[in-house]
Amino acid sequence: MCGIVGYVGPRASEKALDVVMEGLGRLEYRGYDSAGVALVAPDGVETRKRAGKLANLRAAIEEADLPETATAIGHTRWATHGGPTDQNAHPHRGGRDGKLALVHNGIIENFHSLKGRLESEGVQFTSETDTEVVAHLLSAAFERSGDLTTAMRETVADLHGAFTLLAVHSDQPDVVVGARRNSPLVVGLGEGENFLGSDVAAFIGHTRHALELGQDQIVTITPDTYEVVNFDGTPSDGKAYEVTWDAAAAEKSGYDTFMEKEINDQPHAVADTLLGRTDAEGNLTLDELHIDVEELRAVTKIVIVACGTAAYAGMVAKYAIEHWTRIPVEVELAHEFRYRDPVIDERTLVVSISQSGETMDTLMAVRHAKELGARTVSICNTHGSTIPRESDAVLYTHAGPEIAVASTKAFLAQITASYILGLYLASLRGTSYGRDAAEVMAELQGIPAQIETVLAGMDRVKEIAYYMADSRSVLFLGRHVGYPVAMEGALKLKELAYIHAEGFAAGELKHGPIALIEPGQPVFVIVPSPGSEHGLHDKVVSNIQEIRARGARTLVIAEEGDEDVVPFADEVIRVPHTSPLLAPLLTVVPLQVFALHLSTAKGLDVDQPRNLAKSVTVE
Ligand code: G6P
Repeated sequence: MCGIVGYVGPRASEKALDVVMEGLGRLEYRGYDSAGVALVAPDGVETRKRAGKLANLRAAIEEADLPETATAIGHTRWATHGGPTDQNAHPHRGGRDGKLALVHNGIIENFHSLKGRLESEGVQFTSETDTEVVAHLLSAAFERSGDLTTAMRETVADLHGAFTLLAVHSDQPDVVVGARRNSPLVVGLGEGENFLGSDVAAFIGHTRHALELGQDQIVTITPDTYEVVNFDGTPSDGKAYEVTWDAAAAEKSGYDTFMEKEINDQPHAVADTLLGRTDAEGNLTLDELHIDVEELRAVTKIVIVACGTAAYAGMVAKYAIEHWTRIPVEVELAHEFRYRDPVIDERTLVVSISQSGETMDTLMAVRHAKELGARTVSICNTHGSTIPRESDAVLYTHAGPEIAVASTKAFLAQITASYILGLYLASLRGTSYGRDAAEVMAELQGIPAQIETVLAGMDRVKEIAYYMADSRSVLFLGRHVGYPVAMEGALKLKELAYIHAEGFAAGELKHGPIALIEPGQPVFVIVPSPGSEHGLHDKVVSNIQEIRARGARTLVIAEEGDEDVVPFADEVIRVPHTSPLLAPLLTVVPLQVFALHLSTAKGLDVDQPRNLAKSVTVE
């Protein structure tokens, strides 16, 4: 939510604007209500900002005669305080001289009282944002000390809430100062130039050397130096690391949209997430483990916390982890978990799932779980982000950068990682499934090729999407692990095509949802493998007949060779055979492809759907 970029380069290079605009292009998925830049020179700060997508800012910049500078900051906004207007766009200027500019991601919760105080001192505001308050406070602090880092330390002491701030001042034209509390900020280390960004995508075209910052820290970059201090002024080193992917991974690589590319990346996302999971003795391992294995053996309950697509991955995980470990698993939306009174103790393992590792609701749920004494494991796609940093153990997914706002490849990688976690716990606890872990892992190794097969057969799904472009409502039915897949299929359609869509457990059909069926109502049905236990396959085939009898148009996702569905299906979409628990890695793919093409058929922006942002860093 909001993307921010900062750059300081050699005085002679004068490329700051280009670097920052390129970074904003890569971060636009974080928010696209407005965009802006501030360019810093000794004789002043120049800003340009425009409501709407980055293209509007680009056009404004092309028309303007902007100074060439070596230092700049930029911002793409997802509006919280104040509508998406030019005035509310960042950067915001501070002080009467306008020598300071500031960009911000997050929410300053006490901005109202701070604003009242500043207004009583005669400060006039030009926007409705919480950010402008900080710009004025920072400017006043700068006047006292003449140093931007000192001013930032003084200012953050007055702020409540979550924020990443980047500031520049024309009296220190070779400096960008950043501060972070509960919002993301990473440093990119170049030669004679340094970068700041909401994530590494901001500077991946220039350097893969990155520096992770801790909570409540301030960083000051100049062309040749960086310095990190805690809010209390004590020095810190930050943690250096190498980014394992390059700029090409954050580009469309010939596809029309990032989403299409990411759907097609899924075989790699799963294969890479499976890589290197065993130690020399062949035992499964996690990436980071700061919990005693005895404590893991003693776990009596697992609670999975996540939001959006990651929560549906959590629902799939519940089926697998309970089955393999015999530990009860609850799945809870992170924002609900924190505000009720969950029964958690030191024998509870709280597993968070998050692509970004920065989702505020999930982060707060993890912190709440820790306060209650639980052990925490993070399944995350973003190295060094806040949630894994604060968790006792980490299992990274290796989906690579996911840029499209609606999640696809991260979902498959999250499900894969949760299988690995389930098998790991099962082997620790010595359940029979633990001993069979190698067999399941071997089957998982074959999944990427099966996803390729599904992807190769998507022409008909694309056609269906085009002729269904005028649909007003689409329903999705699934059972067992097909139930979360149905929910995810519905979410994709809501996010991308703005169509009313709902996912139901097929067994619930007769308890209400069947009343929605009228002639022509499209219903996707995810059919379990004919080999599923408890006759689930036949029960779902009966459900298809029940809705068909009432006029539904049935779009059936079924295994190769399952002929039972054919008489009752208007369309059959085939997936290869897998063990029932692993099937979501295949059955969700046609639903992603369907949502992508239906959105395209409606002429919508697939990668940047309205009102959404990828990484929701406010509560
Ligand atoms: C937002 C995105 C979803 C994503 C969810 C959780 O709502 O639009 O695509 O699933 O956040 O994000 P996370 O980064 O925690 O997985």
